[in-house]
Amino acid sequence: AEEVTLQKSLPFPIGAAVNISLLKNKTAYRELVTKEFNSLTPESAMKAGVIHPQENTYNWTDADYLVNFAKENNKRVHGHTLIWYKSLPSWITNYQGDAAAWETLFKSHIQTIVAHFKGKVVSWDVVNEAIADDGTMRSSIWLEKLGPDYIARAFQYAHEADPDALLFYNDYGHEYGPTKRGAILDLVNNLKNRNIPIHGIGLQMHTRYTMPDNNLASAINTATQTGLKVHIAELDIAMNPDNIQSLTFSPALAEQQSQKYKFIVKTFNAIPKSQQFGITTWNVSDADSWIPGNYDRPDWPLPFDSNYAKKPAYQGIIDGVK
Ligand code: G3I
Repeated sequence: AEEVTLQKSLPFPIGAAVNISLLKNKTAYRELVTKEFNSLTPESAMKAGVIHPQENTYNWTDADYLVNFAKENNKRVHGHTLIWYKSLPSWITNYQGDAAAWETLFKSHIQTIVAHFKGKVVSWDVVNEAIADDGTMRSSIWLEKLGPDYIARAFQYAHEADPDALLFYNDYGHEYGPTKRGAILDLVNNLKNRNIPIHGIGLQMHTRYTMPDNNLASAINTATQTGLKVHIAELDIAMNPDNIQSLTFSPALAEQQSQKYKFIVKTFNAIPKSQQFGITTWNVSDADSWIPGNYDRPDWPLPFDSNYAKKPAYQGIIDGVK
């Protein structure tokens, strides 16, 4: 019988955030990515700090590598991310200039990158995490220097540089509850109503196995009501949210994780086809997840274990569309 893979089993694109150094240097990682996924998001390679290290220097090396790999292997590339408050190079955070100079910097950063990948990167997270958890606008150098309408202008500038690209607003915490979710949806609906070129909403969905199904369903279904394409853009399911250093990943936990993945996939699969941009997991396996390093704890958030073997979560994802 033909081998089961995620990309063959799912009726919508299935992606992963890719670490370019592992893709280049680790054969088993590269093979797993090649086999299982048909959409790729660079985990870091397109962030300002990596791709635009000096005012007049762009470093395309890693991002081009990913784009070429994707082309050779027939995979979609989703660009991440043009405008974010984090991962900025120091030349931007220290930049001295008046409002006009900041606007030029902002526009040229967006348009240089989008133009470089025109026709190769089909979609972008144009603005990432502009809303704070309390629903107010998140403080950032962009807000400070450009004012709150920087978000709309980022979409306009990106659209000018590649009118065919699908443009997303990406954020986390839709599943927390109505406060943050409402603020994000208000922002997105406001852009839509003003005819700002926005085509999709990214729900990062860095979640945990204890997150109630209702919260996850509300996140997906309210985003769908915007009429935009929906991307579950950075999915992972933390199993050690209380930071227990001695925790081990038991079969019982693995089963609960599998059920949570299944619920998310099932809910996503039930939204209108035309709005299903896809589901992307944030990283590939438990070995390359950002979570253990970021929170200094053991964790097992992904459908592949640290030996790249399938976990019960893998089957949960496939069962979500049955
Ligand atoms: O490359 C440098 C290396 O030269 C240096 O020695 C080392 C020391 O700290 O840092 C390395 O950079 C790290 C970079 O990842 C590359 O591995 C940064 O410190 C580290 O902060 C950075 O973390 C990334 C983080 O975004 C910030 O950009 C994570 O890998 C990445 O998974 C994470 O992804 C974000 C999404 O973009 C947005 N949503 C949340 C998600 C998780 O935080």
